[in-house]
Amino acid sequence: MDRIQNSLSHCTDNEQRALLTAACRAAVAAGRLIRERVNRPHTITMKGVINLVTETDVAAEAVITASLTADTPGMPIMAEETAASHTLAAERLWVVDPLDGTTNFAHGFPFFAVSIALLDHGRPVAGAVYAPMFDELFCAARGGGAWLNDRAISVTDTSRLIEALIGTGFPYEIERTLPEVIRRLSTLLPLVRDIRRAGAAALDLAYVACGRLDGFYETDLQPWDTAAGWLLVEEAGGRVSDFSGGPYSSPIPEILASNSVLHPQLLARIR
Ligand code: IPD
Ligand code: CA
Ligand code: CA
Repeated sequence: MDRIQNSLSHCTDNEQRALLTAACRAAVAAGRLIRERVNRPHTITMKGVINLVTETDVAAEAVITASLTADTPGMPIMAEETAASHTLAAERLWVVDPLDGTTNFAHGFPFFAVSIALLDHGRPVAGAVYAPMFDELFCAARGGGAWLNDRAISVTDTSRLIEALIGTGFPYEIERTLPEVIRRLSTLLPLVRDIRRAGAAALDLAYVACGRLDGFYETDLQPWDTAAGWLLVEEAGGRVSDFSGGPYSSPIPEILASNSVLHPQLLARIR
């Protein structure tokens, strides 16, 4: 875990260092497994009409759970594929998306990631997002900045919507949400440089943190989609809110993340 030494050096609290190390270690271990399996045939099970899960989601979750349990014994874990048995009620817990971007993974489209965060009273204090096909590890601890591999990252300073590249995503329950999705797209698309729907919300948020996107919005996300990326954006100098500009917290179904300069302009268009 040489690459997280820089981020740890900005982390003064020993427990936070241990949490960040645990998150990064588990994310990279699961990411390696995912990378090995990407070109193999997948066993796909449907969770809904278009919402799928593969055996690799489940295998990655097992790797993460074992790793986090070894490093932080007794800490509750809420992980996507076993989430029915967990709630956000614990004061502190790990929130895990073992494979964010499963549809991309199943199609061999390389934009997917592992996302792990420690929520403390509902706020993320340590988090990692690992994109295995790019070997990119994004990590952050509250107060310690945001990092991509061994370099500090920050959001852009883009101040004009027409120069902004914005990310978004489409909820799986698209029939119910389609009118609002289209309304927001048709309002925003003519005003910005372009919009991307890359297919992995945790990585979209990490891309806002490192300046590849100027903003990101989506609805109907789950705590495991957003927890790590939320911390990354804030630690990189950005802002995260709901669609009214109020504080974001999981499981609020709306998230807007931006470089903070663009936030009021984006809020005015998507709310
Ligand atoms: C999904 C991805 C996608 C977003 C969906 C999420 P999954 O997560 O983040 O980009 O649009 O809403 O559920 O199912 O691939 O872990
Ligand atoms: Ca996800
Ligand atoms: Ca997932």
